[in-house]
Amino acid sequence: MSSTDSAQRRGFGIDVGGSGIKGGIVDLDTGALIGDRIKLLTPQPATPKAVAKTIAEVVNGFGWTGPLGVTYPGVVTHGVVQTAANVDKAWIGTNARDVISSELNGQDVTVLNDADAAGLAEERYGAGKDNSGLVILLTFGTGIGSAVIHNGTLIPNTELGHVEVGGKEAEHRAASSVKERRGWSYEKWTKQVTKVLIAIENVMWPDLFIAGGGISRKADKWVPLLENRIPVVPAALLNTAGIVGAAMASATDVTH
Ligand code: BGC
Repeated sequence: MSSTDSAQRRGFGIDVGGSGIKGGIVDLDTGALIGDRIKLLTPQPATPKAVAKTIAEVVNGFGWTGPLGVTYPGVVTHGVVQTAANVDKAWIGTNARDVISSELNGQDVTVLNDADAAGLAEERYGAGKDNSGLVILLTFGTGIGSAVIHNGTLIPNTELGHVEVGGKEAEHRAASSVKERRGWSYEKWTKQVTKVLIAIENVMWPDLFIAGGGISRKADKWVPLLENRIPVVPAALLNTAGIVGAAMASATDVTH
Protein backbone atom coordinates (compact mmCIF):
# COMPACT_ATOMS: atom_id res chain seq x y z
CA MET A 1 0.00 0.00 0.00
CA SER A 2 1.34 3.45 -0.71
CA SER A 3 0.44 6.72 0.88
CA THR A 4 -1.45 7.51 -2.35
CA ASP A 5 -3.97 4.91 -1.22
CA SER A 6 -4.57 6.80 2.00
CA ALA A 7 -5.33 9.89 -0.10
CA GLN A 8 -7.95 7.70 -1.80
CA ARG A 9 -9.90 7.46 1.45
CA ARG A 10 -8.13 4.46 2.90
CA GLY A 11 -6.64 4.45 6.35
CA PHE A 12 -4.84 2.07 8.65
CA GLY A 13 -5.82 1.44 12.24
CA ILE A 14 -4.32 -0.52 15.12
CA ASP A 15 -6.25 -1.43 18.25
CA VAL A 16 -4.05 -2.20 21.25
CA GLY A 17 -5.76 -4.39 23.82
CA GLY A 18 -4.62 -6.26 26.93
CA SER A 19 -4.50 -9.60 25.11
CA GLY A 20 -4.22 -8.75 21.41
CA ILE A 21 -2.94 -6.12 19.01
CA LYS A 22 -5.18 -5.97 15.94
CA GLY A 23 -4.81 -4.00 12.75
CA GLY A 24 -6.31 -3.56 9.34
CA ILE A 25 -6.87 -1.35 6.31
CA VAL A 26 -10.08 0.65 6.47
CA ASP A 27 -12.28 2.04 3.71
CA LEU A 28 -12.97 5.48 5.16
CA ASP A 29 -16.05 6.00 3.00
CA THR A 30 -17.90 3.00 4.43
CA GLY A 31 -16.06 2.16 7.66
CA ALA A 32 -15.53 -1.41 6.44
CA LEU A 33 -12.26 -3.31 6.65
CA ILE A 34 -10.59 -3.99 3.32
CA GLY A 35 -9.53 -7.62 3.62
CA ASP A 36 -8.85 -9.42 6.88
CA ARG A 37 -7.42 -7.99 10.06
CA ILE A 38 -4.21 -9.31 11.59
CA LYS A 39 -4.14 -10.05 15.31
CA LEU A 40 -0.94 -10.74 17.28
CA LEU A 41 -0.67 -11.43 21.00
CA THR A 42 0.12 -8.41 23.17
CA PRO A 43 3.70 -8.94 24.43
CA GLN A 44 4.12 -9.40 28.17
CA PRO A 45 5.23 -7.26 29.88
CA ALA A 46 3.45 -4.79 27.59
CA THR A 47 6.17 -2.15 27.69
CA PRO A 48 6.10 0.68 25.12
CA LYS A 49 9.04 -0.69 23.12
CA ALA A 50 7.67 -4.27 23.00
CA VAL A 51 4.20 -3.07 22.00
CA ALA A 52 5.66 -0.75 19.34
CA LYS A 53 7.58 -3.67 17.81
CA THR A 54 4.43 -5.80 17.66
CA ILE A 55 2.51 -2.90 16.08
CA ALA A 56 5.24 -2.65 13.42
CA GLU A 57 4.90 -6.39 12.73
CA VAL A 58 1.17 -6.00 12.12
CA VAL A 59 1.65 -2.94 9.90
CA ASN A 60 4.42 -4.62 7.89
CA GLY A 61 2.23 -7.71 7.54
CA PHE A 62 0.05 -5.58 5.25
CA GLY A 63 2.98 -3.80 3.58
CA TRP A 64 1.32 -0.52 4.67
CA THR A 65 3.64 2.49 4.44
CA GLY A 66 1.22 5.41 4.96
CA PRO A 67 0.12 7.22 8.12
CA LEU A 68 -1.66 5.17 10.78
CA GLY A 69 -3.75 5.52 13.90
CA VAL A 70 -3.20 3.56 17.11
CA THR A 71 -5.46 3.20 20.16
CA TYR A 72 -4.21 3.27 23.74
CA PRO A 73 -6.29 2.42 26.83
CA GLY A 74 -5.68 5.68 28.73
CA VAL A 75 -5.31 9.43 28.33
CA VAL A 76 -3.02 10.58 25.48
CA THR A 77 -2.33 14.26 24.83
CA HIS A 78 -0.14 15.33 21.88
CA GLY A 79 1.06 11.74 21.53
CA VAL A 80 2.19 11.54 25.16
CA VAL A 81 0.62 8.97 27.48
CA GLN A 82 -0.70 10.51 30.68
CA THR A 83 -2.42 7.63 32.49
CA ALA A 84 -2.19 3.86 32.75
CA ALA A 85 -5.16 2.65 34.82
CA ASN A 86 -5.15 -0.94 33.58
CA VAL A 87 -1.83 -1.23 31.70
CA ASP A 88 1.93 -1.25 32.35
CA LYS A 89 2.83 1.93 34.28
CA ALA A 90 5.97 2.28 32.12
CA TRP A 91 3.72 3.96 29.56
CA ILE A 92 3.20 7.09 31.66
CA GLY A 93 5.17 10.00 30.21
CA THR A 94 6.09 8.04 27.07
CA ASN A 95 5.72 9.79 23.74
CA ALA A 96 3.85 6.85 22.19
CA ARG A 97 3.68 8.57 18.83
CA ASP A 98 7.51 8.78 18.62
CA VAL A 99 8.16 5.29 20.02
CA ILE A 100 5.84 3.68 17.47
CA SER A 101 6.95 5.92 14.62
CA SER A 102 10.60 5.03 15.18
CA GLU A 103 9.76 1.33 14.54
CA LEU A 104 8.15 2.39 11.24
CA ASN A 105 10.79 4.52 9.53
CA GLY A 106 9.42 7.74 10.96
CA GLN A 107 5.92 7.25 9.55
CA ASP A 108 3.17 9.62 10.85
CA VAL A 109 1.42 8.00 13.80
CA THR A 110 -1.67 9.32 15.61
CA VAL A 111 -2.28 7.84 19.05
CA LEU A 112 -5.67 8.23 20.69
CA ASN A 113 -7.68 6.84 23.57
CA ASP A 114 -9.30 3.44 22.83
CA ALA A 115 -12.85 4.50 23.73
CA ASP A 116 -12.48 7.70 21.72
CA ALA A 117 -11.56 5.59 18.68
CA ALA A 118 -14.54 3.27 19.20
CA GLY A 119 -16.81 6.30 19.66
CA LEU A 120 -15.69 7.93 16.42
CA ALA A 121 -16.34 4.73 14.49
CA GLU A 122 -19.71 3.98 16.11
CA GLU A 123 -20.93 7.54 15.70
CA ARG A 124 -20.05 7.71 11.99
CA TYR A 125 -20.66 4.16 10.76
CA GLY A 126 -22.28 2.16 13.55
CA ALA A 127 -24.93 2.47 16.28
CA GLY A 128 -24.94 6.29 16.19
CA LYS A 129 -24.98 6.84 12.44
CA ASP A 130 -28.61 7.94 12.26
CA ASN A 131 -28.34 10.28 15.25
CA SER A 132 -27.24 13.85 15.50
CA GLY A 133 -26.59 15.82 18.67
CA LEU A 134 -24.62 14.64 21.67
CA VAL A 135 -23.65 10.98 21.70
CA ILE A 136 -21.77 9.30 24.55
CA LEU A 137 -20.23 5.89 24.04
CA LEU A 138 -19.21 3.90 27.10
CA THR A 139 -17.11 0.76 26.81
CA PHE A 140 -17.61 -1.82 29.55
CA GLY A 141 -14.57 -4.06 29.97
CA THR A 142 -11.67 -4.22 32.44
CA GLY A 143 -12.47 -0.55 33.06
CA ILE A 144 -15.04 1.86 31.66
CA GLY A 145 -13.95 4.03 28.73
CA SER A 146 -15.87 6.99 27.34
CA ALA A 147 -16.17 9.01 24.14
CA VAL A 148 -18.16 12.24 23.92
CA ILE A 149 -19.09 13.32 20.39
CA HIS A 150 -21.18 16.31 19.35
CA ASN A 151 -22.42 16.34 15.76
CA GLY A 152 -19.43 14.28 14.68
CA THR A 153 -16.82 16.23 16.66
CA LEU A 154 -15.00 14.32 19.38
CA ILE A 155 -14.08 15.93 22.68
CA PRO A 156 -10.98 13.79 23.32
CA ASN A 157 -9.87 12.15 26.55
CA THR A 158 -13.03 12.30 28.61
CA GLU A 159 -12.64 9.83 31.47
CA LEU A 160 -16.21 9.27 32.62
CA GLY A 161 -15.22 5.84 33.95
CA HIS A 162 -13.31 7.60 36.69
CA VAL A 163 -16.14 9.87 37.80
CA GLU A 164 -17.17 9.19 41.38
CA VAL A 165 -20.68 7.78 41.63
CA GLY A 166 -22.08 7.33 45.14
CA GLY A 167 -18.61 7.43 46.70
CA LYS A 168 -17.02 4.96 44.25
CA GLU A 169 -15.32 5.33 40.87
CA ALA A 170 -17.76 4.42 38.10
CA GLU A 171 -15.45 1.72 36.69
CA HIS A 172 -15.00 0.09 40.10
CA ARG A 173 -18.78 -0.05 40.36
CA ALA A 174 -19.89 -1.11 36.89
CA ALA A 175 -17.07 -2.30 34.58
CA SER A 176 -17.89 -5.76 33.24
CA SER A 177 -14.79 -7.05 35.07
CA VAL A 178 -16.60 -6.23 38.35
CA LYS A 179 -19.53 -8.43 37.27
CA GLU A 180 -17.14 -11.30 36.49
CA ARG A 181 -15.07 -10.90 39.64
CA ARG A 182 -18.09 -10.81 41.92
CA GLY A 183 -20.05 -13.46 40.00
CA TRP A 184 -23.03 -11.07 39.67
CA SER A 185 -26.12 -11.77 37.59
CA TYR A 186 -26.98 -9.36 34.76
CA GLU A 187 -29.80 -7.99 36.98
CA LYS A 188 -27.44 -7.14 39.81
CA TRP A 189 -24.77 -5.64 37.57
CA THR A 190 -27.26 -3.62 35.52
CA LYS A 191 -28.40 -1.79 38.68
CA GLN A 192 -24.84 -0.49 39.03
CA VAL A 193 -24.71 0.48 35.34
CA THR A 194 -28.00 2.38 35.79
CA LYS A 195 -26.44 4.40 38.64
CA VAL A 196 -23.47 5.33 36.46
CA LEU A 197 -25.67 6.32 33.50
CA ILE A 198 -27.92 8.48 35.68
CA ALA A 199 -24.89 10.25 37.18
CA ILE A 200 -23.57 11.00 33.67
CA GLU A 201 -26.89 12.06 32.16
CA ASN A 202 -27.62 14.39 35.07
CA VAL A 203 -24.60 16.49 34.16
CA MET A 204 -24.22 15.97 30.40
CA TRP A 205 -27.69 15.37 28.97
CA PRO A 206 -26.66 13.34 25.90
CA ASP A 207 -29.22 12.45 23.22
CA LEU A 208 -27.98 8.88 23.07
CA PHE A 209 -25.74 6.43 24.91
CA ILE A 210 -23.94 3.70 22.99
CA ALA A 211 -22.94 0.68 25.08
CA GLY A 212 -19.70 -0.88 23.85
CA GLY A 213 -17.11 -3.37 25.07
CA GLY A 214 -17.30 -7.17 24.87
CA ILE A 215 -20.41 -7.38 27.06
CA SER A 216 -22.42 -5.41 24.49
CA ARG A 217 -22.52 -8.64 22.46
CA LYS A 218 -24.98 -9.83 25.13
CA ALA A 219 -26.87 -6.52 25.09
CA ASP A 220 -30.27 -8.26 24.92
CA LYS A 221 -29.61 -9.66 28.40
CA TRP A 222 -29.04 -6.33 30.11
CA VAL A 223 -29.77 -3.19 28.06
CA PRO A 224 -33.57 -3.71 28.45
CA LEU A 225 -33.09 -3.78 32.26
CA LEU A 226 -31.54 -0.31 32.44
CA GLU A 227 -33.63 2.30 34.27
CA ASN A 228 -32.00 5.59 33.27
CA ARG A 229 -33.93 8.07 31.14
CA ILE A 230 -31.79 8.52 27.99
CA PRO A 231 -31.92 5.76 25.32
CA VAL A 232 -29.09 3.22 25.27
CA VAL A 233 -28.25 1.29 22.11
CA PRO A 234 -25.65 -1.47 21.82
CA ALA A 235 -22.50 -0.88 19.77
CA ALA A 236 -22.73 -2.26 16.24
CA LEU A 237 -19.11 -2.62 15.10
CA LEU A 238 -17.67 -4.52 18.09
CA ASN A 239 -14.52 -6.25 16.80
CA THR A 240 -13.60 -3.52 14.36
CA ALA A 241 -14.58 -0.24 16.11
CA GLY A 242 -11.10 0.44 17.52
CA ILE A 243 -9.32 -0.24 14.22
CA VAL A 244 -11.80 1.86 12.23
CA GLY A 245 -11.74 4.78 14.69
CA ALA A 246 -7.93 4.75 14.79
CA ALA A 247 -7.82 4.88 10.99
CA MET A 248 -10.30 7.79 11.03
CA ALA A 249 -8.14 9.66 13.54
CA SER A 250 -5.06 9.27 11.35
CA ALA A 251 -6.90 10.85 8.45
CA THR A 252 -8.29 13.83 10.38
CA ASP A 253 -6.52 15.13 13.42
CA VAL A 254 -8.99 14.66 16.26
CA THR A 255 -6.50 14.39 19.08
CA HIS A 256 -5.17 17.12 21.34
C1 BGC B 1 -9.06 4.25 31.17
C2 BGC B 1 -9.64 4.81 29.89
C3 BGC B 1 -9.90 3.70 28.91
C4 BGC B 1 -10.77 2.63 29.55
C5 BGC B 1 -11.01 1.45 28.64
C6 BGC B 1 -10.01 3.21 31.71
O1 BGC B 1 -9.50 2.69 32.90
O2 BGC B 1 -8.86 5.27 32.12
O3 BGC B 1 -8.76 5.76 29.33
O4 BGC B 1 -10.53 4.22 27.78
O5 BGC B 1 -10.20 2.17 30.76
O6 BGC B 1 -9.81 0.84 28.25
